[in-house]
Amino acid sequence: MIPNVCNDYGAGDGDGLRFDGYPLTAAKGGTGVLVRQFEVGDFNIFSYLVADEEAKEALFIDPSADIDLLLQEAALHDLKVKYVVNTHHHIDHVMGNREMVARTGAKIVIHKDDAAWMLHVEPAMLRMFRAEPSPPADVTVGDGDLVRVGGVALQVIHTPGHTPGGMCLYLEARLDQPGMVFTGDTLFVGSCGRTDFPGGDYEELEKSVRTRLYTLPQDTIVFPGHNYAPRPTSTIEDERLTNAVFHG
Ligand SMILES: [Fe+2]
Repeated sequence: MIPNVCNDYGAGDGDGLRFDGYPLTAAKGGTGVLVRQFEVGDFNIFSYLVADEEAKEALFIDPSADIDLLLQEAALHDLKVKYVVNTHHHIDHVMGNREMVARTGAKIVIHKDDAAWMLHVEPAMLRMFRAEPSPPADVTVGDGDLVRVGGVALQVIHTPGHTPGGMCLYLEARLDQPGMVFTGDTLFVGSCGRTDFPGGDYEELEKSVRTRLYTLPQDTIVFPGHNYAPRPTSTIEDERLTNAVFHG
């Protein structure tokens, strides 16, 4: 069954961009994990806030635009932003890094195989996205590493194919809350990221999706890197059965 997720569009703030994600709160008896999904900028990017509400520590996954909006949410919960975690090096996912880091002091985390790529952006790409390049990574990670905020640990799953250092971030199930996986451009709802950019490899992407993602617990919620589908989230089971590119 798919939980009733991300159905609070607009949230009454008038800009039509923001909506609340999976409503996990630290209410008494809750898990203490806060997750919010935002659609930001002009490229249907999903950015995510993941926090330990009790420890008041947070990270953003791919905070690529609308930094005011993202930081408003962090301030609302009185959160210290420790990390900016990039699922991969593409400019549309890292172009908010500079502003986010300047305003929070957060450290940039990216997979070691994408760290160098992040620093070598074609000027034409910067113009096309009206983007600023990211500063260098502060922390590079590899498969199996944990990125922690308070008592919340996101596990790095290396999923090359869209880019060499593409990675997904996996949060294990807690209490009665299903697991969650933040999939960047590796897996979308109903499709997957392109493999025709430099460093892309279709066979590697298929292997990543089938052996590293579809093997996760089937009720794991999929939080993709772009809003390209009629619904903003999915589950591993739904994708394994119905994804247009990798199914069955
Ligand atoms: Fe990408």
